[in-house]
Amino acid sequence: MYSKYCLLLGTEKNRFRALVATARATNMKIAIMAPSGYVNGNRYADLVIDGNPENIEQALAAVQTFAEREGMQPGAVVPLTEMTIAPGARIAQYYNLNYLSEKALTLTRNKFEMRKAAHAGGLNVPKFARFNHLEQLATLAEDFPFPAVVKPTNAGGSEGVTYVASKDDLASAFANLRRVTENYGSEFGMADNDYQIEQFVDARIELSVEVLNTKTGRRVLAVTDKELTPLPHFVEIGHSLPSIESDNEALKQAALKACEVLDVEHGIAHVEFMIDHSGKIYLLELNARTPGGGIPEIFEKIAGVNMLELHSRSYLYDEVKVPAYHMSGLAAIGFMKAKQGTIERIKLPAQHELPKEAFGLQLWTSEGARVNPLYSNAELEGYVEFFWPDYELNGKPKEYLMLTQQLTEQIFEVVES
Ligand SMILES: Nc1ncnc2c1ncn2[C@@H]1O[C@H](COP(=O)(O)OP(=O)(O)O)[C@@H](O)[C@H]1O
Ligand SMILES: [Mg+2]
Repeated sequence: MYSKYCLLLGTEKNRFRALVATARATNMKIAIMAPSGYVNGNRYADLVIDGNPENIEQALAAVQTFAEREGMQPGAVVPLTEMTIAPGARIAQYYNLNYLSEKALTLTRNKFEMRKAAHAGGLNVPKFARFNHLEQLATLAEDFPFPAVVKPTNAGGSEGVTYVASKDDLASAFANLRRVTENYGSEFGMADNDYQIEQFVDARIELSVEVLNTKTGRRVLAVTDKELTPLPHFVEIGHSLPSIESDNEALKQAALKACEVLDVEHGIAHVEFMIDHSGKIYLLELNARTPGGGIPEIFEKIAGVNMLELHSRSYLYDEVKVPAYHMSGLAAIGFMKAKQGTIERIKLPAQHELPKEAFGLQLWTSEGARVNPLYSNAELEGYVEFFWPDYELNGKPKEYLMLTQQLTEQIFEVVES
């Protein structure tokens, strides 16, 4: 008889808080997976499995090898990030564990399949079409409304999402897509020429709805406002909670409907929407995993509930009770983008020198690193977490973005190069 553990995949992507959260949800030991994880191993996890959690066959092989050596098998597998969903599915299938259905996996991993299913299920989505090469795109464009957006069907972090003002810009937009996706085959084992074009939604606001899915029901946990860079790029530079649209019932119903139509029955889903100037709601995409960008932490700060714990519980148990909570004040994350050049010095303020609303900093860069232009969230330098217990929300909050900007200028000494 093998003893069982709960396997968390993707903790290294800023999801380490899932360790303590999951330890509160199960008596099983908590395992994580990391390449060469036994070297300087993470001591917050009970078990560390040497393996690559982002590669389907390697992740399964790592769990099997660990079983032979240690006599332990997974009793649950919980994916925390986009790239660990498919490896987790393979492990769950092999060991016969609770997991997202095949249907959910197909419909949520591919933006084209997602759009088709959402549209068929009655959700409002921007006009969309799929293509592989430039000639095909040019033909499609003949009767496609412009401006438009082109993007890889299978990516994240706004990677490759390109604004196309008119037909004249198709060739350069396509070149950009090619550049971004050229290594997808070797890196992730997926197609490097699968793209789609979409009608550009001129959004008044963009937001996400965090939904908890279980075998026995679904509920909305939070609505989060997003801030993005100005056109032609679409990088998220801020998140804040609660949203100015927290009471928008049509929006929350659309998020629940999206989970239902895409057959998501485990875990948090991060469901992204845009609302245009006439109030029309468009589903952008559904990610069947915990939100990144620190949203679980600001939610925990303002609501006192750990979303990562609920996420793990929904893979462990059919029914998940959500503690009662009330959000007051404002919790936010501002992403840091330094001036372009080379970072000569990082001057971190002492904790007591931070604005009193700032409660944490994430730094994703180091002295000597280059600061590249901002095309996707891979080019951000980190983020600042804020909490105002007494904030009165009147319209979209801006103070946290200004404070982030000030801190960024203070922290990064950049030399132009
Ligand atoms: N059809 C669209 N109209 C307007 N903006 C869009 C559209 N599609 C994507 N965007 C912008 O690009 C961002 C990233 O696109 P998304 O489809 O969510 O891909 P990713 O998986 O990279 O997050 C969105 O958050 C949004 O700001
Ligand atoms: Mg997105």
